[in-house]
Amino acid sequence: MSIRTLDDLLAEGVSGRRVLVRADLNVPLDKQTGDITDDGRIRAVLPTLGALVEAGAKVVVCSHLGRPKGAPDPQFSLRPVAGRLGELLGAPVHFATDTVGDSARSTVADLADGQVALLENLRFNAGETSKDEAERGAFADQLAAFGDAYVDDAFGAVHRKHASVYDVPARLPHVAGRLVLREVEVLSKLTGNPERPYVVVLGGSKVSDKLAVIEALLPTVDRLLIGGGMCFTFLKAQGLEVGTSLLEKDMVETCRNLLERSGGKIMLPVDVVVADAFAPDAAHDTVRVDGIPSHRLGLDVGPETVAGFAAALSQAKTIFWNGPMGVFEMPAFAAGTRGIAEAITKADAFSVVGGGDSAAAVRALRLDETDFNHISTGGGASLEYLEGKTLPGIAALEN
Ligand code: 3PG
Ligand code: MG
Repeated sequence: MSIRTLDDLLAEGVSGRRVLVRADLNVPLDKQTGDITDDGRIRAVLPTLGALVEAGAKVVVCSHLGRPKGAPDPQFSLRPVAGRLGELLGAPVHFATDTVGDSARSTVADLADGQVALLENLRFNAGETSKDEAERGAFADQLAAFGDAYVDDAFGAVHRKHASVYDVPARLPHVAGRLVLREVEVLSKLTGNPERPYVVVLGGSKVSDKLAVIEALLPTVDRLLIGGGMCFTFLKAQGLEVGTSLLEKDMVETCRNLLERSGGKIMLPVDVVVADAFAPDAAHDTVRVDGIPSHRLGLDVGPETVAGFAAALSQAKTIFWNGPMGVFEMPAFAAGTRGIAEAITKADAFSVVGGGDSAAAVRALRLDETDFNHISTGGGASLEYLEGKTLPGIAALEN
């Protein structure tokens, strides 16, 4: 595999050239205020953008935000992101109020060397996510017209076969940005020959989302620790009652089968925090997993589970963690996630946090990001990478 990198492009010289950068600026926004609640993904592309600015390129950044349905939708505007990006870069970012229309055309045309523009949300255009090659291709043509070269630094979106990720690189000289390169370097250590013991912690709400990665990881890992909402389907598969906890009934049989085949590698919670309701102030208690009351639901793993998982993690030489252990957004149910995160930082291991919620948890719980070797910006993307799937955005860079 041969992927050209940002350094190759910089070596050619980009001064005065228009460089189209696909970033993943899909940041969480506060539902009430619209404020950016975690700017991690914006900060993660600064090395690439900074290098291009420094080299005098005209930098045209594009991204998606949320899942608008192929038409403009103000709640998903990238405008607040342009503001924050400008603050972080220390120079104003010129914002285009459309993606490939008049505003985008004039914004790009007016860029001076070393200036940065951000186009409005890619997904305001049906062509971005279309399954129809021609429709995607037509949109990719319009995007590609804004660049003399293309940089993919949107690791969080490389698993999407979307116009800006997959079709634009077929139309322009293309390279991987610093973030994409770093992500692939780190994740390939996990799929290659990880130092053992290799311990994976999986959480989050749904087994169905994690099934493929569990299947792929089982032969590779030494231990697989399972918490979060998805643990209840596994507990049910062990014949336990889980009250009103999250349960994927149609996955119980699959979980039973995984447990049988796991050769004892899968570790499940032994205690959980159960509550009367899914609410921050709900009455709650810690119970053993064989004593979950029928009217209560589990919202976190318990202290004994944290201690057991922490013991397994303390032995590890390589750790991958994806998915919170409980509803960490509510302080009453954050102890499990915090405990596991702290155990990971204490272990003498190469530690990688998969993106999405677990990366957000690290920052929301105010843990020190530098205590982890790598915090991925891609949730789905890092999981699909570990599954060994071909990622359209990476494949497109290889050609
Ligand atoms: C993410 O947040 O997982 C990435 O930005 C990709 O977004 P998507 O799941 O809506 O494609
Ligand atoms: Mg996702």
